[in-house]
Amino acid sequence: MSFSLDNICYTWITIPILLITTFVIYFKWKYTYWEKHNVPFIQPQIPFGNLENSFKRKTPPCIEAKNFYHEFKSKGAKHGGIYSFGTPVYIPIDLDYIKNILSTDFQYFTERGRYYNEKDDPLSAHLFNIGGKRWRSLRTKLTPTFTSGKMKTMFLTLLECGKILQNAVEESYAKTKPVEIRNFAWKFTTDVIGSCVFGIECNSFANQYADFPKYGKMLLKGSPWEAARMAFIFSFPNLAKSLGIRRFDKRATDFFTNIVKDTVEYRESNNVRRNDFMQILIDLKNTPTVDVEGDGEALTMEQLTAQCAIFFIGGFDTSAAAISFSMYEMARNHEIQQKVRDEINEIMVRYDGKLTYDGLTELKYMQQVIDETLRKYPSLTILNRQCVETYKIPNSDVTIEKGTQILIPLMGLHSDPDYYPDPDRFDPERFSPENKKARNSFSYLPFGNGPRNCIAMRFGIMQVKTGLCMLLKNYKYSINPNTKEPLELDMGVMCCAKDGIWLDVAKI
Ligand code: HEM
Repeated sequence: MSFSLDNICYTWITIPILLITTFVIYFKWKYTYWEKHNVPFIQPQIPFGNLENSFKRKTPPCIEAKNFYHEFKSKGAKHGGIYSFGTPVYIPIDLDYIKNILSTDFQYFTERGRYYNEKDDPLSAHLFNIGGKRWRSLRTKLTPTFTSGKMKTMFLTLLECGKILQNAVEESYAKTKPVEIRNFAWKFTTDVIGSCVFGIECNSFANQYADFPKYGKMLLKGSPWEAARMAFIFSFPNLAKSLGIRRFDKRATDFFTNIVKDTVEYRESNNVRRNDFMQILIDLKNTPTVDVEGDGEALTMEQLTAQCAIFFIGGFDTSAAAISFSMYEMARNHEIQQKVRDEINEIMVRYDGKLTYDGLTELKYMQQVIDETLRKYPSLTILNRQCVETYKIPNSDVTIEKGTQILIPLMGLHSDPDYYPDPDRFDPERFSPENKKARNSFSYLPFGNGPRNCIAMRFGIMQVKTGLCMLLKNYKYSINPNTKEPLELDMGVMCCAKDGIWLDVAKI
């Protein structure tokens, strides 16, 4: 009896010791990767690698990535390697390396290496996540969705949503209440995307369809658990897939799947057609289109739903962030604000006092303000790629192996004083035609670059410009003391102010 007790104790002590030793040896071995590949690296810690402990996180991931960039850059490195848990991640710093990855040698980097799980989490199999031939075929099918003709027809919907936004500002002004611009922008873009993608009038300001913004937030929220889950998924995608781990919350998935199903059924059985993304997707579902890959297959209902999800995720938060940060910077700098307002009025006079799609494209100074906003606050703070075929970096002895994750930290690039002197200063003149021409275009990537850039860049800009016109035409803004400065950023990978941005409103 005593012998077997001893045995049990012995087993209980040796098994954990063996497990911990194996674990440590495994990570130590993993952490030799960049040294062996002759790539400069930052010393990792077991088990998080170079990432901050997800459960005690104090630094938003976008700032963490920015710090990696500056650390490598300050050492004069053209690139560097870090570890996400045990997974090596390659960070290009040199603009030629970045250009090669995104554009010139794109065929080696066609994937984002993002996790998706079509079986357990059908919403995750969307254009942003998928790769290879399926991505190329879908991208070709969806590209015509964003032609100027289609943008023009959707502009009318944007104007309708813009009027609701304007009424909300008027209401706050009448009650002498400050506006929380992040929330206002967010409601405006939710209305736009709800209408253009799902064909639903959300009227977020009146709080009908209150579930819509709620579930939208759920698709994006960055809780500590969420951050840990994402880090796990990023580091062990195959294990995550076999464990059936979901990228999206089940409740949000069910909510959006049901909305899409109901809308498609309603339109098809009542022969209703609208000028929106949903209609284009329904047409793609019902009409097989032959593309460059020779894929004549129509979109399935699951694929349609997943594309609605990415149009929603990609469409509302990115543009809302751009609107709210632009407004924040303009509330701090009244001269810039007035210059934008003057330009809006000038263009409107030219178009019979109306805001038109063509007029919007002529707002050149406003475009510079948006460009500068997206430099300081790129909505998506990181670009990802995955190497799909072993690649030798030109004029170097370094090889990037197939399967390697690539990370391009936009906040690092955009705050590099070599490209943007005094980077914390908000200065739209950086984007005057002459200054833009004088700079390497790969130092500015708010919409990415190359064949996998943002498919909806023009729609995003149209949405931001419409929102800004509606906000600035009749009102002046200044910072309300409720705004905590300097602004702190949210813990997600999206660039978003953590606390509210409160602005006082005055009439012109
Ligand atoms: C200010 C607004 C926006 C910003 C700053 C933005 C930014 C980005 C960025 C940085 C990427 C990754 C590009 C790359 O990896 O090279 C991207 C991809 C994408 N965006 Fe946007 N976006 C915006 C608006 C939108 C809107 C309105 C939609 C949809 C309605 C959208 C849908 C997408 C999709 C589907 C992709 C994936 C493209 C692909 O992989 O082929 N985005 N966006």
